[in-house]
Amino acid sequence: MDIRSHLLLALLLLKIHEVSVQSITVEAVLGDSVILACSSIRYEQDVFWRHNNSKSVYDIIDGGENFHDQDPGFRGRVKGFPSEFTKGNYSIKLSDVKPTDRGTYTCQIPDSSPLHVELKIKERRILEPKPNARNSGVMRRAGGVSLLPLVYVLLCSFAV
Ligand SMILES: *[C@@H]1O[C@H](CO)[C@@H](O)[C@H](O)[C@H]1NC(C)=O
Ligand SMILES: *[C@@H]1O[C@H](CO)[C@@H](O)[C@H](O)[C@H]1NC(C)=O
Repeated sequence: MDIRSHLLLALLLLKIHEVSVQSITVEAVLGDSVILACSSIRYEQDVFWRHNNSKSVYDIIDGGENFHDQDPGFRGRVKGFPSEFTKGNYSIKLSDVKPTDRGTYTCQIPDSSPLHVELKIKERRILEPKPNARNSGVMRRAGGVSLLPLVYVLLCSFAV
């Protein structure tokens, strides 16, 4: 194999890896709601959403919503879209996002590789009063200084 075939093979393996891991990251603001997406090319009878591989979040059993095993922490905060099930859409909407909601959500479909959704939580941004002219000047200068090493590294890599 020549170098190009090697490169192509490496890229291909990278792509396969990407597909098999299937993990996406979603950000939610505290108190808001967020959609955790999961879909299948087929119509599925059973789908299990889990949090951190343990807590039950939302189940579809025999084609219908089933809240029997749902963790109390998620009660009343998770909504599925039953009218979308036949389209293979098993996304859920998590409302009133809490700090403890962060972590990995897994959409498990029997005989398929699980889909992972990483949920990050951020605080609602509070509008701060406008800094006065003197403070913002200091900040700008500080920012300028911190960029210098980066510029230096960039210049060095060009020189090589
Ligand atoms: C699944 O359904 C939800 C709710 O209607 C919608 O927001 C989302 O876009 C749908 N996803 C796909 C892949 O169709
Ligand atoms: C879930 O996992 C995340 C990341 O490891 C962790 O920060 C969080 O505390 C866990 N949450 C629960 C309820 O286990």
